[in-house]
Amino acid sequence: MPKKKSYYITTPIYYPSAKLHIGHTYCTTIADSLARFHRLRGDDVFFLTGSDEHGQKIQRAAEAKGMRPIEYVDGIVILFKELWKKLNISNDDFIRTTEARHEKVVQDLMRRSYDNGDIYKSEYEGWYCTPCETFWPENKLPDGEHVCPDCGRPLELVKEESYFLRMNKYADKWLKFIEENPDFIQPESRRNEMIAFVKSGLEDLSVSRTSFDWGIKVPWDQKHVVYVWFDALANYLTAAGYFDDPEKFKKFWPADLHLVGKEIVRFHTIIWPIMLMSCGLPLPKKVFGHGWLIVDGTKMSKSLGNVVDPIPLIERYGADALRYYLLKEVRLGQDGNFSLTTFINRINSDLANDLGNLLQRTLAMVEKYEKGVVAGPTVKAPLDDELASLAVTTAREYEAYMDDMKIDDALNVTWGLIRRSNKYIDETMPWVLAKDAAQQGRLETVLYNLLEALRIIAVLVSPVVPLSAAEMWRQLGLDDFAAVRLAAVQVWGQYPAGTHIAKGDALFPRYDLAEEVTESKPEETAVELVPAAKEPIKPEITIDRFSETDLRIGTVLACEKMPKTAKLLKLQVDLGSEKRQIVSGIAKYYKPEDLIGHQVIVVTNLKPAKLCGVESYGMLLAASDGNDNLQVVFVDGMAAGSRVR
Ligand code: MSP
Repeated sequence: MPKKKSYYITTPIYYPSAKLHIGHTYCTTIADSLARFHRLRGDDVFFLTGSDEHGQKIQRAAEAKGMRPIEYVDGIVILFKELWKKLNISNDDFIRTTEARHEKVVQDLMRRSYDNGDIYKSEYEGWYCTPCETFWPENKLPDGEHVCPDCGRPLELVKEESYFLRMNKYADKWLKFIEENPDFIQPESRRNEMIAFVKSGLEDLSVSRTSFDWGIKVPWDQKHVVYVWFDALANYLTAAGYFDDPEKFKKFWPADLHLVGKEIVRFHTIIWPIMLMSCGLPLPKKVFGHGWLIVDGTKMSKSLGNVVDPIPLIERYGADALRYYLLKEVRLGQDGNFSLTTFINRINSDLANDLGNLLQRTLAMVEKYEKGVVAGPTVKAPLDDELASLAVTTAREYEAYMDDMKIDDALNVTWGLIRRSNKYIDETMPWVLAKDAAQQGRLETVLYNLLEALRIIAVLVSPVVPLSAAEMWRQLGLDDFAAVRLAAVQVWGQYPAGTHIAKGDALFPRYDLAEEVTESKPEETAVELVPAAKEPIKPEITIDRFSETDLRIGTVLACEKMPKTAKLLKLQVDLGSEKRQIVSGIAKYYKPEDLIGHQVIVVTNLKPAKLCGVESYGMLLAASDGNDNLQVVFVDGMAAGSRVR
């Protein structure tokens, strides 16, 4: 038997400083689908994710809650693990940087670099972005501005004793490595950026901090804690068994793929390789920088208030639907916009209409015309060969695309086969064949071919929609899905004749777009999907940022229920200088007559949105406690147009 290929894939380890949002979900979903694909291919996979728990940012977040850092992170890490479970993430390990196994590794790496003469003591005086945990040398800041080039937040001036890693010493070796390993940094645009960054001059990196103590101690100088990125990057070695499991380490290191967001490519492709070079360890094989999932053209962030919470989406639409949407909608390496409308449309068209329908129609016909027991193929036609050869080609192309991390292309070819199979039903018209006893053999052959196509499709979609694929397999009457390998669907005709199918519920329900996309789930931003109740107070903003919101008193002139939705009211509001139409999701709480004549507070400079096909030019302020209580803020007696500040 050929030796199994090992495949070590990692996501970044996430900061437990806030709830994870749909952008984090994006990265982990990509990694999970690739891990599942490699298992399907028969590779020996090690898939790692985890949490990055040290550093000033976490210490401050814990202090703000009056908690010890470890108590604070313990609580959040539970939520991470719950989220990954809900999303069916199949990680083989979850590393926490506060674990003892990790501390040993970080200290060992520091010691190795130090002993090699690559770490020296000095003083750091310069700029630091605490949310990104990044040092910013003056020469990397545009026009002397002291805001973080990555996240745009203000930098802090830091002055403290620190140990430094001699980065510049390795610049030439790094450039040579990149030249010899052109695939190391992907996509190519990121590679070029990194080369330019290194060529512009590498500063030595501060790798310890002394102004706080939440971190791993520098082994020879207990006053210092290791810089959180040095600590965090080492997680990939810890989990691979660097200290505890030499066999495992030999099998999985160097990692095959670090999948990371584009803003942390620099850490993974410059700092991390230089750390490893300094310690004399092999470098990972590839770092892929994926794009961001954005909302309304902006990266999600708590401070901008445009965070989309994945949990309500998973609870409402299912993990598979979300996974499919994220992987299908965004091309790996590019940014992609999240919108509830396109999400619902994808579920309805690709999952319910194409895939779900193919299974449902086929199984219904097998029940009706064969009493649920599948006969073998006997009477063939040229159309069958076309379907068979498309299925086999698709399974091969799919493998090549997935291997090349072109997940959306792999899905495209798979959906080509799904749509072709649906068309095959329309062309062969089994319901007509069923009327003629002489066509019994042909009818059985057609149904067999459809089941065989579905067998192949179930396997191909399984890395992306694992639960639905397993359910398809069950309904097809097949067993032991976990043991199936990709090679088994690269040949036609393997569906066993004589199988009893087990038709069940539809795989994917359809949703009414107008019902789903209401004010509480706005079309473009879906911001309101974050449950409001018990949410911690949002981070501080400046008065300038607050005053960007134009709040005015409006008098409700007219109000009516909107047709075809139980949620929305359409209001005409007088703002003093102009009249506006506003659609508001408060029909459950107010009758139109409760509002007419009252003064309310209106957000007047909100981007217009279309709700159930009707334009809305503003939003009413209302309080809600998350327990289904909602109250509009009335300010009766105030003149229309008055400013609220
Ligand atoms: N803790 C560091 C990583 C250390 S790895 C040794 C960190 N954590 S993070 O929680 O801020 O981000 C983790 C990952 O989530 C990053 O790869 C980041 O790019 C990704 N994303 C955060 N927001 C995102 C989007 N809106 N879209 C896609 N990915 C995004 O950085």
